[in-house]
Amino acid sequence: MVDDLVRTPAAVAEAERWTAHNYHPLPVVISSAAGAWVTDIDGKRYLDCLAGYSALNFGHRHPALIAAAHAQLDRLTLTSRAFVHDQFAAFCRALAELCGKDLVLPMNTGAEAVETAIKVARKWGYRVKGVPHDKATIVVAEGNFHGRTTTIVSFSTDPDARADFGPYTPGFKVVPYGDLAALEAAIDETTVAVLLEPIQGEQGVIVPPEGYLPGVRALCTENRVLFVADEIQSGLGRTGTTFACDHEGVVPDMYVLGKALGGGIVPVSAVAADQDVLGVLRPGEHGSTFGGNPLACAVATEVVGLLKTGEFQRRSAELGARLHADLGALVGHGLLAVRGRGLWAGIDIDPALMTGRAACERLAERGVLAKDTHGSTIRLAPPLVVEPAELDWAVEQLAAIL
Ligand SMILES: Cc1ncc(COP(=O)(O)O)c(C=O)c1O
Repeated sequence: MVDDLVRTPAAVAEAERWTAHNYHPLPVVISSAAGAWVTDIDGKRYLDCLAGYSALNFGHRHPALIAAAHAQLDRLTLTSRAFVHDQFAAFCRALAELCGKDLVLPMNTGAEAVETAIKVARKWGYRVKGVPHDKATIVVAEGNFHGRTTTIVSFSTDPDARADFGPYTPGFKVVPYGDLAALEAAIDETTVAVLLEPIQGEQGVIVPPEGYLPGVRALCTENRVLFVADEIQSGLGRTGTTFACDHEGVVPDMYVLGKALGGGIVPVSAVAADQDVLGVLRPGEHGSTFGGNPLACAVATEVVGLLKTGEFQRRSAELGARLHADLGALVGHGLLAVRGRGLWAGIDIDPALMTGRAACERLAERGVLAKDTHGSTIRLAPPLVVEPAELDWAVEQLAAIL
């Protein structure tokens, strides 16, 4: 890293000393942030091109979100769902309307929302579809990333995520992503849901072939199977539309949302579906102490309000076109491939040049924060408030390290 760092090495060593090593962070110690920029403890500024894996779509400390959080902190923070609070209905209604669904079930983390979707799909399968008891199956895709619980890693195909965490939860079938014939072959009378990311983020921003998502929709409808779209990373403006499914005019039976829903302030996740699906749950069958708490609802209602303006989706589409054009020009000049939609790009660095990790370290030296994913792939997902000139500058830094 750069020579003028004073406090950073000791702070990194202190963090390493006291935490489990379940992450391998870049040696940058952030102490403040605003918009698309963060500042470290040595006063160095970085353009944030990861945005908390899309949890910071609206940038760091968006004024409207911070104001909503402050106002709520001064009134009421937590009740549990044993009581109703005055922020709850407004949030659920706003999110249900944004999704075009009847009902919302709020949770906290993304993994909890995915677990919720799995439980709802199974219950729907037994109570509505008539699948024999304990026989429900859910079809998922190779290369998926849906979180870290023991059930979710049971159907991961990433050895790091899965190995030595068994015994695994049964009831999942894995098919190649983007392959409709394989999906069709996997569906039978026990299938209750197809659970997919409309764009696979952790896998390297993999966009499925055109026609795949409509094909999944059609297969699900024909076979009376729920299409569950995990839009935790792809949703809420990231790809230039509210949901990544919107690009192909597809409406899933259940949206699974998280990350940006909490405005980069609090963990907020949710599933949204119609009454015939989410209505299968009865009191006592599912829940979470913090799910739908007043602070979360106040912030997330404001998030939905920002999305309703369309401004962030528009910015993502316009700036994304610029980003993809600029990155495309680097293919053959150090990049092997560029994928993605909107302000979301997976770039494959020529492994002969350097690993993704080395590239991220060099970018950090130049003031750009990004994160490698598999091997020499890097994901770029700047906050949607990034300015065009800042984006151009980030691509210049990438060109320079290549
Ligand atoms: C598509 C997708 N689903 C689920 C999750 C899990 O979310 P969380 O880390 O909040 O549990 C992630 C996180 O990266 C994700 O990208």
